[in-house]
Amino acid sequence: MSFPRAIPLIFSLLAVLSACRLAAQPTGAKSATASDAYAGSNACRTCHPNVALQFFRNPHNKTGVLANTPVDKAGCEGCHGPGKKHVDTKGGKDSIGAFSQMTPGQALDACLRCHSKDQNRANIRLSNHTQANVVCTSCHSIHQPESNRSLLSKRQADVCYGCHNDVRAQFSLPSKHRVNEGFMTCSDCHNPHGTNAATWKMGRRPHLVDTGLNNEQACMKCHVDKRGPFLYEHAAVRVDGCESCHSPHGSVNARLLKRPVILTVCLECHNGAGSFGRQADGVTTQSASHNMADPRYRNCTTCHVRIHGSNADRTFLR
Ligand code: HEC
Ligand code: HEC
Ligand code: HEC
Ligand code: HEC
Ligand code: HEC
Ligand code: HEC
Ligand code: HEC
Ligand code: HEC
Ligand code: HEC
Ligand code: HEC
Repeated sequence: MSFPRAIPLIFSLLAVLSACRLAAQPTGAKSATASDAYAGSNACRTCHPNVALQFFRNPHNKTGVLANTPVDKAGCEGCHGPGKKHVDTKGGKDSIGAFSQMTPGQALDACLRCHSKDQNRANIRLSNHTQANVVCTSCHSIHQPESNRSLLSKRQADVCYGCHNDVRAQFSLPSKHRVNEGFMTCSDCHNPHGTNAATWKMGRRPHLVDTGLNNEQACMKCHVDKRGPFLYEHAAVRVDGCESCHSPHGSVNARLLKRPVILTVCLECHNGAGSFGRQADGVTTQSASHNMADPRYRNCTTCHVRIHGSNADRTFLR
């Protein structure tokens, strides 16, 4: 019951009763007459022709044409709630589930009435978006979508830039993923509907970053050669995640690296201050074999070429 203001208690009772009746006659239950509170989508055409006439292209039209759809989930009234009273009183915003009058929470509930089972949105109520009152209708437009696929109000990146404008500049840096050019998009890495806490990077918030197969980082969907598993893993990649060395959106540095010179990327961890490694010394590079005064040693990946993990060498030399 998503529209409490519009539905007198009696209709709620009626709906419950009719639901029981439907359950009792499972085959071919023509539900068009199941509740007197509903007018049916045809009744809406006369007064809302603009909305009604382009609705046949909408994926939600399905619910209106399937014969066995329960009346409270069919067509216009599937979202706007029972409309008989609205029709009888010749319209008005108070007699119908009007999204313009709903709080973000009510709009969310109206959509989740049907979409809550979708696994992709299993975590929607805990997502950063929902908690900041950014709900379905902030990104989706049912009647004026940019495209009938996914029903977004604008091209996806533009929907997101509407609120995350600072991110646009990151995708214009010299080294970048080509999102602004349209080759990929935010949802290749993010799930705007919320993510489950990942088992990698456990200590940090997941930033709505999506997970790929087997709960791995979204990056692996495309960079499959980095997936492993490798005989010799680089803990930085496997545990801390790709973002410990790369800026995922874009960077002024080559290869999306966080720092201009590779050695400074490495020395962020391999500086002797950490307590990781077999000798618990942070695996410093100040050994006799690594003479930092020798410029040859500064470009670490000329020798440690398999920096993302190796099947042949414990120090990633090949
Ligand atoms: C007799 C004409 C008439 C019929 C039939 C009718 N409406 Fe309306 N509807 C109106 C009027 C008038 C308004 C108020 C518009 C306003 O105040 O801007 C309205 C408002 C609405 C709104 C609120 C829009 C908003 O501001 O958010 C929705 C939703 C709506 N109608 C849906 C329906 C649906 C669904 C049906 C079919 C069950 C339907 N209407 C049938 C006349 C009608
Ligand atoms: C999937 C849910 C859904 C269905 C189905 C749906 N609507 Fe809507 N409707 C909305 C939402 C959400 C809004 C608020 C504006 C928006 O996001 O596009 C809205 C807005 C409206 C409005 C007011 C704004 C406008 O664009 O004029 C009217 C009138 C309306 N709907 C009528 C209808 C009619 C008639 C049908 C059936 C042909 C229908 N709706 C089917 C979700 C739905
Ligand atoms: C009455 C049940 C119902 C309600 C309420 C409902 N939807 Fe849907 N929605 C559906 C069905 C059924 C489909 C079609 C699914 C399919 O094609 O597999 C659909 C499809 C969609 C799609 C397109 C999916 C695609 O693959 O492109 C989007 C986006 C969507 N709904 C968003 C919303 C939003 C936002 C709301 C709330 C304003 C809403 N829905 C309310 C039943 C509903
Ligand atoms: C922050 C923006 C945002 C919010 C809030 C949002 N969505 Fe989406 N939604 C998207 C984007 C972007 C896509 C397209 C994903 C793609 O194309 O891969 C999408 C896709 C979908 C789809 C179709 C594809 C799929 O994942 O099954 C459905 C259905 C859907 N959304 C429903 C909803 C519902 C219901 C809500 C509210 C409970 C909601 N969305 C809230 C941005 C949003
Ligand atoms: C290549 C994968 C990828 C793409 C594409 C991507 N993101 Fe991200 N984004 C990430 C990762 C990974 C993080 C987490 C960074 C971290 O933890 O340091 C992140 C963080 C964020 C953050 C929070 C941190 C910040 O920088 O403010 C926002 C907001 C964000 N992304 C928005 C977007 C938007 C909007 C788009 C599309 C225009 C987008 N992202 C596309 C991977 C991506
Ligand atoms: C209506 C405004 C709005 C829209 C549209 C929107 N967001 Fe957000 N987004 C927010 C708010 C508010 C937050 C929560 C505050 C915060 O953490 O920055 C947030 C949080 C996020 C975060 C987590 C940031 C963090 O620091 O953990 C990511 C990632 C993100 N949004 C990506 C997206 C993507 C991708 C889209 C497009 C599909 C999108 N947003 C659309 C307003 C919006
Ligand atoms: C949807 C596929 C896709 C996803 C997901 C993805 N990438 Fe990429 N990535 C690409 C493509 C394609 C390129 C090639 C650059 C271009 O577009 O010109 C690229 C380039 C890169 C580069 C630079 C390579 C070079 O030679 O300059 C790095 C580093 C990178 N990605 C890291 C990541 C990280 C880290 C993530 C996860 C946060 C990620 N990618 C997620 C497709 C993807
Ligand atoms: C320990 C730091 C570090 C981590 C963590 C890391 N990378 Fe890299 N990555 C590098 C360095 C350094 C280079 C540049 C190598 C060069 O130019 O010699 C690079 C280059 C790349 C390239 C372009 C060259 C190539 O090998 O294809 C891609 C793509 C890439 N990384 C993706 C990823 C992905 C995806 C992850 C997470 C699974 C990741 N990286 C994690 C340090 C790292
Ligand atoms: C985010 C922190 C971090 C960054 C950045 C980092 N590493 Fe590591 N590295 C580690 C950790 C943790 C280990 C695992 C030590 C262990 O075996 O317990 C490791 C292991 C190694 C090893 C194998 C050491 C051994 O004895 O098995 C090499 C070689 C190495 N890193 C080189 C590099 C290079 C080159 C870079 C820069 C491209 C780099 N690392 C960047 C954290 C990091
Ligand atoms: C000229 C080739 C070369 C360059 C350049 C180089 N290394 Fe090495 N590195 C080696 C070799 C060979 C080993 C294995 C033998 C050893 O332990 O000295 C090694 C071992 C390591 C180890 C493991 C040490 C241990 O105690 O287990 C780490 C960590 C490491 N290098 C990090 C780096 C970092 C960080 C850089 C850049 C500042 C770098 N290396 C540059 C050749 C190189």
